[in-house]
Amino acid sequence: MCGIFGAVFAERPKSPLGEMLTMALHRLEYRGYDSAGVAVADGGVIVVRKDAGKVAEVSARHGFRSLNGIAGIAHTRWATHGRPSRENAHPHLDCTGTIAVAHNGIVENYAELREELEMRGHAFRSETDTEVVAHLIEEYRRQGLDAFAAFKRAVARLRGAYAIAVIDAGSPAAIYFARNLSPLVIGLGDGFNVIASDIPALLDFTRRVVVVRDGECGYITPTAVYIEHDGVPQDVSLRVEEIPWTAEMASKGGYPHFMLKEIYEQPESLALTIAGLEWPRLETAASALLSARGVYVVGAGSSYHAGLVLAHLLWRVRIPSMPIVAAECASYENLFDRGDVAIAISQSGETIDTIKAVRVMKGRGVRVIAVTNVVGSTVARECDAVIYTRAGPEIGVAATKTFTTQVAVLSALYISVMRLVGADTAERERELKMLPELARRTIEGAAGTVRDVARRIKGKASAYYLGRGLSVPVAMEGALKLKEVAYLHAEAYPAGEMKHGPIALVEKGFPVVFVLSDPLTREKTLNNVAEVRARGAYTIGTVPAGSDAARALDAAIRVPDAGEVASPALHVIPLQMLAYFVAVERGLDPDRPRNLAKTVTVE
Ligand code: AGP
Repeated sequence: MCGIFGAVFAERPKSPLGEMLTMALHRLEYRGYDSAGVAVADGGVIVVRKDAGKVAEVSARHGFRSLNGIAGIAHTRWATHGRPSRENAHPHLDCTGTIAVAHNGIVENYAELREELEMRGHAFRSETDTEVVAHLIEEYRRQGLDAFAAFKRAVARLRGAYAIAVIDAGSPAAIYFARNLSPLVIGLGDGFNVIASDIPALLDFTRRVVVVRDGECGYITPTAVYIEHDGVPQDVSLRVEEIPWTAEMASKGGYPHFMLKEIYEQPESLALTIAGLEWPRLETAASALLSARGVYVVGAGSSYHAGLVLAHLLWRVRIPSMPIVAAECASYENLFDRGDVAIAISQSGETIDTIKAVRVMKGRGVRVIAVTNVVGSTVARECDAVIYTRAGPEIGVAATKTFTTQVAVLSALYISVMRLVGADTAERERELKMLPELARRTIEGAAGTVRDVARRIKGKASAYYLGRGLSVPVAMEGALKLKEVAYLHAEAYPAGEMKHGPIALVEKGFPVVFVLSDPLTREKTLNNVAEVRARGAYTIGTVPAGSDAARALDAAIRVPDAGEVASPALHVIPLQMLAYFVAVERGLDPDRPRNLAKTVTVE
């Protein structure tokens, strides 16, 4: 939800600062793409260029690249308050045009602040919540405070979620920042420093980072980083991390879209994740699950679906676990107690619903174990223990490789539980090791059929995704992908639930996708295939290569044979590909689905 970036140099860089800002905006565009803008401080003035539209159009139209100066901020917007327009695009200026603000998040008390500032004579130009920040700083500057003191006073007035970057023409060799809930990372350069909403936006410039924590504010200069929390200066030197991701990993590398690249990267990201599994850590988590009073699995969107896979596997070893959609966690607060254990799943580690869920549970004494892809993210920091996936940066808005790597890690956790209860896990361990190779074969084998099916269903209005048992979360993930990137209405159900209502919609040509990954339930699911086929449905299925289920379907997508550990990750891959190809067939950009942002930092 919005991406912010800032850079500060000791003197005007040889290659104009606008180049760097535009490059970073392209990296951040997946966080919001309805408007873009930059502001540059130079010689005591601030130049702002911004407009509604994609980064490429807006930056070309307004000559972002030619702007130069010693400090600049940039913003890609995912609209919350105010429609996408030039006026509402960031950065926002104060009345004097000497303070520029880029913000990600929501200032919840903006209406009352705006009223107060208007009464004091401030003239607003936009409908956004963010503009109050610029005028508040201006107000405190008028009262004689220096740039940082005025910035801090302004931030202290804000309620809500925010990551803010500010430049002030009166003190141009610095970028002031503050964070509450929305992510913010500082990058340490050679003769310059940068700040951004996330790590991929920094990778072109540096891999040495300092993650800004909630409640912190400070400033960067070309050579220094100052951070404080509740007025207390923090020791930044202890917090510098070297990020293993490269800029190449965060680029399309010859693929037409990030989503396709990330689908094809799954064999590699799975291999890295599985090779990097820290088994002693998994064993500690597994033992906590076994001795817990209650077990909860929490996440949003795809991460929730990965959580459903875990919950299902835990049920198989008789650990009753309750999956909870992160945004609903507060409704279950009374359930949580000391002695409970929760697994909180979030690829970004910055989804606000998941962060809040973690806080609710921790507030009740629950031990929370994070599964995340981002080192140093809020979820990683706030949980009692962390298990990392190693998917690398995921830029496509639709989760693909982060989902399958989550499933791999959670399957490893399941194996650890099995080991502790004395079960023979050799077969499952072999399967987990084979997963990257099986994923490669799945992609290779599925591409042709998936493209045919995509052409066949691209004009449809709706589709069902059905499965039973362990296939249900896979069906849910497939349906989410189709909605998300292809704007084709898709609903997932346990296949047996069909006849209790949803089957009423089935008519000639209605697409029904069956996930036949779960051997325990496959036979029964085939009865449901026959039921909808008898009503004219166009039946598609992900089918294990060794099964004869293909005969029951109109289109069968072959997936290598595997058991409960590898099947969920394998069967979701053709569904990711299907969503991708339907989106492309419909002329859509799967990397930038409307109304969505990669990391959801608003409630
Ligand atoms: C998945 O394709 C979506 N983009 C979305 O549902 C996502 O999984 C959800 O917002 C959670 O994100 P997280 O894993 O970063 O917490």
